[in-house]
Amino acid sequence: MRVLGIETSCDETGLAVYDSAHGLLAHVLHSQASVHADFGGVVPELASRDHIQRLLPLTRRVLAEAGLEEAAIDGVAYTAGPGLVGALLTGAAFAQGYAWARGLPAIGVHHMEGHLLAPMLEPETPDWPFLALLVSGGHTQLVAVDGPGAYRLLGDTVDDAAGEAFDKTAQLLGLGYPGGPAVAEAARNGREGAFRFPRPMTDRPGLDFSFSGLKTAARLALERSDAGAEARADIALAFEQAVVDTLVIKCRRAADATGLRRLVIAGGVGANSRLRETLAERLADVERFFPRLDFCTDNGAMIAYAGAMRLLAGERTPQRVGARARWPLTELEPPGVVA
Ligand code: KG4
Ligand code: ZN
Repeated sequence: MRVLGIETSCDETGLAVYDSAHGLLAHVLHSQASVHADFGGVVPELASRDHIQRLLPLTRRVLAEAGLEEAAIDGVAYTAGPGLVGALLTGAAFAQGYAWARGLPAIGVHHMEGHLLAPMLEPETPDWPFLALLVSGGHTQLVAVDGPGAYRLLGDTVDDAAGEAFDKTAQLLGLGYPGGPAVAEAARNGREGAFRFPRPMTDRPGLDFSFSGLKTAARLALERSDAGAEARADIALAFEQAVVDTLVIKCRRAADATGLRRLVIAGGVGANSRLRETLAERLADVERFFPRLDFCTDNGAMIAYAGAMRLLAGERTPQRVGARARWPLTELEPPGVVA
């Protein structure tokens, strides 16, 4: 089955074609970073308008890159939530319209299930069950993955998501948007030990996270410094170390509590190289699975993959245009249970 995947939940328009027999055939991405850069964050209305303009040309491009005629597509998968509702609706409307016009089945995919399954597009894939650390702009969750669609939430953030904290701290430090890569880049010039920020919620049991205090710690440090390039690099480093350390401590704890020895790291913050290195050091006994860098951040390939899994099991999303801004991952059922 060849599935066209469509991702429009935030500020990236991602299209891909996944073939359940032959793997990923093509993927294309348009980033709206330049649209939102002046604002220091995503402006939802601008995001929606940009998605609308990109969807059709990108669909044509991804089909051309896959060397396929339209008739070769057997199903359409789109991100149905969670995310910015206007942005989601552009993809949902396009996908449902496209499927209806061609008599194809359509499936609305959970964005975080897409992220969680993204490592399945790599040569080395994890066996079930495994642990997953989902770290994106909107989510910071530790999940026990018992099987496809069987997700147990072990820990969640009580305030900001890790990526959100990176973005806000980048803005504070005047480093631009998106913040994660900018903070990581600045941190390279930071001096070890110039500042030390707390590791929130690691001093008590449990697997929940809190990142809003780190943003405040960064702001106070900036106010007390001369706010020069050196001080900002030092703060970026201390901030990155605190976030990474906190994530790694909780991953260690989750691996020990569940006995699971496979860990998937997915979502934009999974692109962070300090996180990858620190996990390699401190969870050396746990097999770690990352998507390729392009598929850590939002993309159409992960949506095509997750959609294909569910379409193959006979699941369909009825012909109506809907999306959910909020949608707990744990509401999902294994593929085919809800036909
Ligand atoms: O998964 P994603 O592309 O979109 C959401 O679903 O939110 O994640 C985007 C987030 C942003 O907050 C961005 O700053 C962060 O991932 N990010 C990073 C890095 N690359 C992207 N954070 C830290 N280090 C990075 N290298
Ligand atoms: Zn995402």
